[in-house]
Formats: sequence, structure tokens, C-alpha cells
Amino acid sequence: MCGIVGYVGPSTDDKALQVVMEGLARLEYRGYDSAGVALVTEAAQNGAGNGVQSEKRAGKLENLRGALYAREMAPSRTAIGHTRWATHGGPTDGNAHPHRGGDGDRLALIHNGIIENFHALKKELLAEGVDFDSETDTEVAAKLVGREYDRLGDLTEAMRAVVGRLEGAFTLLAVHADSPGTVVGARRNSPLVVGVGDGENYLGSDVAAFIGYTRHAVELGQDQIVTITPDGYEVIGFDGSPAQGNAYEVTWDAAAAEKGGYETFMEKEIYEQPHAVADTLLGRTDEEGRLVLDDMRISEEQLSRVDRIVMVACGTAAYSGMVAKYAIEHWTRIPVEVALAHEFRYSDPIADERTLVVSISQSGETMDTLMAVKHARELGALTLSICNTHGSTIPRESDAVLYTHAGPEVAVASTKGFTAQITAAYILGLYLAQLRGGTYADEAQAVMRELRGLPDKIQTVLDRMERVIEIARFMADTRSVLFLGRHVGYPIALEGALKLKEIAYIHAEGFAAGELKHGPIALIEPGQPVFVIAPGTATPHDLHKKVVSNIQEIRARGARTLVIAEDGDEDVVPFADEVIRVPASLPLLMPLLTIVPLQVFALHLASAKGLDVDQPRNLAKSVTVE
Ligand code: G6P
Repeated sequence: MCGIVGYVGPSTDDKALQVVMEGLARLEYRGYDSAGVALVTEAAQNGAGNGVQSEKRAGKLENLRGALYAREMAPSRTAIGHTRWATHGGPTDGNAHPHRGGDGDRLALIHNGIIENFHALKKELLAEGVDFDSETDTEVAAKLVGREYDRLGDLTEAMRAVVGRLEGAFTLLAVHADSPGTVVGARRNSPLVVGVGDGENYLGSDVAAFIGYTRHAVELGQDQIVTITPDGYEVIGFDGSPAQGNAYEVTWDAAAAEKGGYETFMEKEIYEQPHAVADTLLGRTDEEGRLVLDDMRISEEQLSRVDRIVMVACGTAAYSGMVAKYAIEHWTRIPVEVALAHEFRYSDPIADERTLVVSISQSGETMDTLMAVKHARELGALTLSICNTHGSTIPRESDAVLYTHAGPEVAVASTKGFTAQITAAYILGLYLAQLRGGTYADEAQAVMRELRGLPDKIQTVLDRMERVIEIARFMADTRSVLFLGRHVGYPIALEGALKLKEIAYIHAEGFAAGELKHGPIALIEPGQPVFVIAPGTATPHDLHKKVVSNIQEIRARGARTLVIAEDGDEDVVPFADEVIRVPASLPLLMPLLTIVPLQVFALHLASAKGLDVDQPRNLAKSVTVE
């Protein structure tokens, strides 16, 4: 998510602004819905005395560049810059960073992450008479650090006084008019790297921010604060104790730096999934532990009257809706239907004010999905959007929004977008269960606890991908791959097949395992590779056993079986040519784990074929025509 740059140099000229703008251009892949900069102007150059000049604009960096061109910025040796991917508050000029705080608004602050307890902190500040100019969580931090600066007169100490009060994930950078030549940064659960120069120093959310100037980098550890000046940098822990970052030399070039050292955006995005899921879960509970959603313009009373849910989406997003159906029906007992958006719109659908139409779209711009939402509204249905892009059209056209916080997805084939959508749909299901009471309301907290452990489990899957990569490379000449799954594994089979079609151009089909004997088994011939997503052993109705029988059936006919199974599932071993292990979780949550090997498989098979993984032929990331 958001990109952050900071710079301090020896002389007050144009360099600070130039460094920060170049850094932002390289970080634009992290977010591009608005951007801003702040410069500390010093008395010697500015008759008006010390101050902080800032400029910020909604839209791409180009808009900020235009605004800066139109006004004269004072020379400066201290600057910070931010490119935003909105999480709290839409992508407007006002919500863009930096945000100001302290006496005379002499502090400027930028932020990457989500401050989970910002509602409570904002309430406290409002009660004290503090005015806010934006809807962001960031401005709360700006007001708090500004206030502490006025009290303590030291930027590092002011930052330290505040970070302990913040919950969630954040990287913060701050400058103050009275501290020229100093930028202070802090991080928790969100990245921050120092770039060490000669008589000048840099900060960035990653090395892409300063790769054009220095390759000496220092990665900050968890809960650390760094103060940079032209002459050096100093790191302390949130508790004030001296600390050290991890120094290293960057070996990537600028282009690779944008991909964080990964070969492709798709690979990077697959590996970002632990974060995408964790961030989507952030800030979802209030002080009493109750679930909260974003932008709810539907009353709880309207929601509790809902007697039917229709999920509308296209492509990968539709498969996340299919996963959601199993979970939401189980937790709420509300019937859920999943419709491809383009089919829903023109099928003369039935919907009224007791129907909740949930659209799922990473981009928020897919025309088919937008049309379905508009039609649903015409029919009087309630509309809720699960979306990854703040300020996009579909959330704007919907009555309520639940944002996924996956950060920008650049590769055409959706990966982290998918797991974040599933996560958001679970949150919605648990919220509805809680609202309606009944059996699963009590369990909602327990499921939420398990869900919070899923990012670590996804990481475990990613750490085990060596064999899957080998298999993918070995199968580069394969002409057809089948995928079988049952229950929540069925949409994962469909998504696994879609990934392979999209980027490797291989004939691939996903089937419900139970359907096998009704037709698809005729496709099995000796050597046919078949991925099987085995249900968790705790899945009700003996589904695990039934799928084990399916594996035997296809193996007996010569299929080469590649079985994705949870740790400890020994029943599949005798019938599997390969077992791909994932950690066990609640049966309904398993898709967040079982999809990962299939994404990695498609990626490496396509790479082995020498294909352009990020921009596959004939496809577009966002399909804005019907
Ligand atoms: C296109 C993309 C797919 C994506 C689908 C839905 O077809 O190629 O990867 O799943 O659109 O996109 P959305 O932005 O609405 O999630």
C-alpha cells in the first residue's frame, strides 16, 4: 500500500523536492489515487520565517506535478512525500497526505498502513476541541504528534510519545517547521528503509524510493523509530532504548526494485498475500469486540431483514463469491446465490428490498459488475460492494462498502485480490451472523480468531513452494490439466484452472469432484495431470472420505494425481503421485491456503514457457466495456 519518501540534504535548493518526486514516481506502483509532499522552508530563504509548505492532489502523481509547477515552492533541504492507496476516506485532495498538526499546523505527517484504534483516538481529540480536515486515520496521528511536539519540543520524542498509543500497522514520517534538517520515521507492521548517502540521507517504504541515489540501505526492525539528518541516522526502539536496523547493499536495479526484487508483479503479489489478508482484517472490531464495516449506508435494521443474498462478480472475483456462499449460508442461514454479473443483469432477476446484492470487484470498474449493481438498485435491492479500490465507480454506486486492503494489484491475473476478497466476504458473513443472532453469532469470535492466524499459515504455504515450482517447470509442455474440488474446494478448482488458462494458455478445467462420474471421468487417460483439492479432514458429511475415493477412481484410470491436502492427512498418501501440504484450518477457511500452490504452479509453468506473466495475451486488468 501507500508509498513513502523522506529526504534531508546539506543545502537548501531544489534537490529535496526533486528526490522526493523521483521517489514517488518509483513508488507509484504502491498506490496512485493521490499524492502529496511537504517541505520545511527555512528563515534564510524565506522572509516569512520557518514553515512547512505542502501540496497534495487527488489522482495520479501527474496532478501533483502540475500543481507544484503552478506554484513556487521555497528551496528546502528537508522533504517528505507520499503516494496514496486509500484505506480510510476516499481519494480526495483533502484526504491526500501530508496531514498537519500542532500549533499553527507546523507539523506535517505521512502514513502507510491502518491505525486500527483511530476512531477512539479521534473521539478523544474531538472532545478536546481539535478540528479535523479529513476522514483519514492518518490525521489523528498528525494531530497527536503535533501536540506532543508542542509539549516536548523534540520531534523524535514527540513521535515516541505517540506510537505506543497507536494500534494496527503503520509507517509514519514527520517533519516540523522548527526542526529543519530532520525527518523522523516510525514503523510497526509496515515497512521503512533508510537510504544512507554522503552528507544526505533518505527514507522510503522500500528501496525503490532512493535507488537512483544510493544502494546503502538499512531496514528498520519492528517497533523502531529513526531520525535522519544530513550527517547520519539514529535508531531507537519505541521504548527509547538504542537500537540498530539491518544494513545491506541493494543489488537490484531500479526496475526490479519496484517489484521488490521479484521477477514479476504477479510473483510479488502472490507473496504479499499474508499482508493482504492481515490488512483486510485490520480495524474490523470495535472496543467491545463487535465487527464493524466501512461506509455502511445500510441500517442494521435493513440488514437484519435481508432474506436472500446474491453475489455478483466476474472472473476470479466470482469464484471468491462462490467460496463466500458456503461460509455465509453456513453462518447466517441466509440463502446465497452467486451470479456472473453479466448473466444476472440480463436474466430478468428477482430482487427486492430484502435482497442484499453483494458485488465483488478488485478494480471497482468492471462494467459488467457495475451494470449488475445499477440494475439491482433499480429493483430496490440493497447493494454492498467488496472492492479493493477506494473511490472507484462500483463502491460509489453501492449502498455500502467493505474494502479489501490488498494494495494495488498490477498483474492482470488476480491473486492477492482474490484472497483479500474471500477474507472480506468472511468478515461480511460473520458480521451478518452477529447481527442476526442465532447459533453462529457465538462462534463468530472464534472464527475471527482463527482467521487472524491465517496470514501466518499462508506464509507457511509460501515457504514450502519449492516442490510445486519444480513440478511446474517439469510440466512446461503439458497440454491439459484438470482440477477437482468439493465444497469450498470446488471454486478453488475453478480458480486454479482459470489461473492456468489466463497466464499459461493451457487447456485447464475445474470440476466439482462429485460430478466426476457424471462425465468428466471420461477425460482421464494415462498420464493426465489432475490437481485434487482435498477437503479438510474435519469437513462434515464425510466429504474428505468421498474425495479420497475420487482420487482412487482417477488414479486407477492412469491419472497423475497432485493432491493438495492439510498437514496430517495421511489418507490421501497412497493414491497421490504428489502431496502438496498446507496447514490445517477450519474447513470453511481452507481456500485461503489451498489456492496458493495453484497460483504458484500457474506462475512458474507460464514462466517456464517464457510467457509474459504480468500482461497475458488478449486480457485486460480492468474490463470497462460490457
Ligand atoms: C478481468 C480480469 C480478471 C478479473 C476480472 C474481474 O477479466 O482479467 O483477472 O478477475 O476482470 O475484475 P474485477 O476488477 O472486477 O475484480
